[in-house]
Amino acid sequence: MLETSLNGIPYVYERSGQGKALVLLHGFPLDHTIWELLTPLLQKRADVIVPDLRGFGGSGLSPAGYGVNDLAADIASLLSHLKIDKAVIAGHSMGGYVALAFAHAYPQRVAGLGLIASQARADAPERKASRFTEADDLEAHGVARLAEDMSSKLTGDKGLQIKLKKLILNQPPKGLAMALRAMAERPDSSPFLAEFDFPVAIVHGRDDKLVPLERAREVKEKVKKGTLLEVEGAGHMPMMEAPQATAGELLRLLT
Ligand code: MLT
Repeated sequence: MLETSLNGIPYVYERSGQGKALVLLHGFPLDHTIWELLTPLLQKRADVIVPDLRGFGGSGLSPAGYGVNDLAADIASLLSHLKIDKAVIAGHSMGGYVALAFAHAYPQRVAGLGLIASQARADAPERKASRFTEADDLEAHGVARLAEDMSSKLTGDKGLQIKLKKLILNQPPKGLAMALRAMAERPDSSPFLAEFDFPVAIVHGRDDKLVPLERAREVKEKVKKGTLLEVEGAGHMPMMEAPQATAGELLRLLT
């Protein structure tokens, strides 16, 4: 892992390959390792940059609460640190919320946008409220319950469930709680979708139990230059359940 400090927070990322810059942002409650099957498929064509978002994996905790716009600002700082003006930004689920916030705040730095198992809408009021309860529960009792609940929702693949459960158990409860609160407060990105001038590649599992496929179709309808791949037999983790198909969509953003 490479290390730096971004906006006062110790930050880790991996970098490999050659070509146009491509940043892959993991979802909740995961870290950069979810991209390990995808990265080798992209390295020949892209300079692949894979960070742990603040509060996840090896990156540090935020000293105070933050919003998804702060996570997007971390990515802008990371690109500046690497002297990269413009990149393809792709995000998985919560990473997609960050990618959308980045695209809204820094459109001139976006060569293309990838949204994997994500959505543009904000939380409905009930979901927003339940995230705050879950965040308090995480801080009081740790990640065991979340790891149990989430792993079976992320994918129907039993082997992958075991791997993902281990990955979730490694995440710091405080970082996950802060991320839940940031997601609860995120704005609706739908109004900005029509402004995007860059291509948007959307990949969504047909069996996603966490973000309904309909949310991906909504994004596809609103963007000017979008493609949507609906992956048969995949749940919320198409980059692990169907890496070839997912990589194919991202590679099209690099041309
Ligand atoms: C994720 O996979 O990042 C989360 O499930 C997204 C969410 O809870 O909205």
